[in-house]
Amino acid sequence: MEQSIDIRPAVRRQPAHPSIDSKQISALVDTFYGRIQEDDRLGPVFDGRLNGRWEPHLEKMKAFWRSVLLKTGEYKGQPVPTHTKLKEVVSDDYRIWLELFRETAFDVFKDEAAARIVIRQAEKIAESLWMATIASPFDRVPDFLSTADGWN
Ligand code: HEM
Repeated sequence: MEQSIDIRPAVRRQPAHPSIDSKQISALVDTFYGRIQEDDRLGPVFDGRLNGRWEPHLEKMKAFWRSVLLKTGEYKGQPVPTHTKLKEVVSDDYRIWLELFRETAFDVFKDEAAARIVIRQAEKIAESLWMATIASPFDRVPDFLSTADGWN
């Protein structure tokens, strides 16, 4: 008797929202880091670390967001050790980062549901980075890590 084997990919490559594509992800990353560069607090933090390596950073971040939102699997880095090295980063920097990110996502993703999904992903990753790099054992997670109006 013949055996049939059902082979499926381990991860289904489905976008987090049907309207999200790689062009929008490129626009998100370019616009977001453009705004980061103009920010009085975070601009110098990134400039100081990247020291002229902006182009490869943008390419890496596009691959990262395609992996998160389109499940392409192309980003292979380890964000936690990268951020643990950033000793100059304080809790409030995460508030600024997320504020700029939320604004940018709503500007770039014309579909509001898509923007909210993208923001929710950023908030979840920001929370895990904040926990890994900033938090002491008994710290309460700050409200600015998740959107206050509860729309997710
Ligand atoms: C206060 C907030 C943050 C600051 C100041 C910050 C800063 C940085 C800097 C300076 C780098 C470049 C490090 C280098 O190449 O030398 C970096 C890399 C990166 N960041 Fe952030 N970051 C923040 C939050 C986030 C959040 C919330 C995310 C995700 C949603 C994120 C995702 C990444 C990723 C994926 C990399 C590349 C890591 C690698 O593979 O090398 N970051 N970040």
